[in-house]
Amino acid sequence: MNIKPVDLAYEEIGQGTPVLLVHGFPVDHTIWLQVAEGLKDEARVIMPDLRGFGDSPDSNEVFTMRLLAEDLLALIDRLKLEKVVLVGHSMAGYAVLAFAHAYPNRLAGLGLVATQADADTPERRQARLVTARETKRRGVRYIADGMPSKLTQNVDIQQQLHENIMKCRTTSLVNALKGMADRSDANPWLAAIAVPTVVIAGRNDQTIPLQRSVTLAQMLSKGWLVEIPEAGHMPMLETPQEVVSALRQLICHVAGCG
Ligand code: MLT
Repeated sequence: MNIKPVDLAYEEIGQGTPVLLVHGFPVDHTIWLQVAEGLKDEARVIMPDLRGFGDSPDSNEVFTMRLLAEDLLALIDRLKLEKVVLVGHSMAGYAVLAFAHAYPNRLAGLGLVATQADADTPERRQARLVTARETKRRGVRYIADGMPSKLTQNVDIQQQLHENIMKCRTTSLVNALKGMADRSDANPWLAAIAVPTVVIAGRNDQTIPLQRSVTLAQMLSKGWLVEIPEAGHMPMLETPQEVVSALRQLICHVAGCG
């Protein structure tokens, strides 16, 4: 495999257990700012921008989940961290599961937020590749106009997401869509994940049905589910306090309770 990691841009706040909060598609690290504020007294919270998003460098290749995982490893190495709590939202959940498979000994804990272990079905994969083609043809606005109302029912957050998505580059959106379409089924390696893992899911998630999170939590030997009744696909923006509480509980499992 020819993998060349890029130096990810990141923002950090707080002191304590190292926790990486990784954003999904098609936004950047700023979705995590409220949650980071709530964790800063017990955690060193590091919020990277994935390759091609926010201030991180772009690259003209498919953003496979393994590639995104290698970028995260390079950042963890650059920060000289031996083990981290790695939290991924949606697409970053797929990347975090690829990381858990490849580098289990660099993990102290895992957070899987509004995500799933399943690969795309053939129909979903096809639909994603059509979206990639349309995005290439029509530009970022195609995603920015169509996606926010599927992610949350909160109109203020929809507006915030629209602004965030409009900062993306078309090529990054296309490369990330192709990377998600090509991802592997992570179910076969879930049982080997030996660290405490919280699965956080919004009951109104239109992108990843709640049942996938229920099953995911059941398949993890040290996993548990936090279901948030008021949230959709963006619990870190819709219900940040609930996400802070869930991640505090995870940190407590990993590092002991203060
Ligand atoms: C995300 O929020 O990262 C994506 O919507 C996930 C997906 O499309 O599977």
